[in-house]
Amino acid sequence: MSKVALVTGANRGIGLAISRQLSSEGLKLILAVRDLKYKEELLSEFPQAKIVKIDLNNPHSIEEEISEFASEVDVLINNAGVLFSADKLLESSSTFYESMQVMLESPYELIKKIAPYMIEKKFGRIVNVSSGWGSFGESLGGPHAYGVAKASLNALTVALNRELPDNVKINAMCPGWVKTRMGGEAAPRTPEFGAKMAIHLATLDENGPSGKFLRMSDEQEIVEVPW
Ligand SMILES: NC(=O)c1ccc[n+]([C@@H]2O[C@H](COP(=O)([O-])OP(=O)(O)OC[C@H]3O[C@@H](n4cnc5c(N)ncnc54)[C@H](OP(=O)(O)O)[C@@H]3O)[C@@H](O)[C@H]2O)c1
Repeated sequence: MSKVALVTGANRGIGLAISRQLSSEGLKLILAVRDLKYKEELLSEFPQAKIVKIDLNNPHSIEEEISEFASEVDVLINNAGVLFSADKLLESSSTFYESMQVMLESPYELIKKIAPYMIEKKFGRIVNVSSGWGSFGESLGGPHAYGVAKASLNALTVALNRELPDNVKINAMCPGWVKTRMGGEAAPRTPEFGAKMAIHLATLDENGPSGKFLRMSDEQEIVEVPW
């Protein structure tokens, strides 16, 4: 039977590219958007998909928003993200909290609600779309709250890997610098290329890694990113 993948931030950028590639790999899709205005457009491209609203600014509403389909999810892609590059930590706390909600608390809530079903099914793949800007080893280069939130998502990946059984794999990844609304026009990578690492991790076989932070090089080799 086809595996079912839930992708957050599926309406644009890397999330849309991940959705397209998962669909061509034969997975069934649950596409999460924060605004259902994208529903018709997504359905015209993915007629078999379920389009759901998940507002990652409200971690505490997630349990209710996903209750109908949480048990179906075999593959969870925590892709959605926000980048407030102008807001310094000492100047704006609202964008700090929003960054932590979207890129740490809500991914945690999604995993917490979905992982027990994966454990029961003895199968799960969780992909946390992080960034080199969340890497201490790469100098935590991201602006202000962004790097803090991504470093926290990385820490969550390591800590959860200790709790999850071998057949439920969780990994963090960096897509590289990608031409999207967030990445901007100057970025060298296409969303399709940025999505490749996520597809690899979403479709890992039973011997695949878990608890890693990985990136695909320009030569399409998989390399570890320092935490
Ligand atoms: N682009 C890069 O160079 C780059 C580099 C490293 C890591 N990343 C990571 O890759 C992931 C995808 O980024 P992208 O470049 O594709 O960015 P993007 O084009 O800006 O897309 C971000 C997605 O996240 C969704 N999102 C944001 N806040 C949300 C919320 N509160 N609730 C639900 N959805 C929300 C957006 O929905 P709306 O359309 O409704 O706003 C959009 O679908 C992010 O985690 C990002 O940090 C990107």
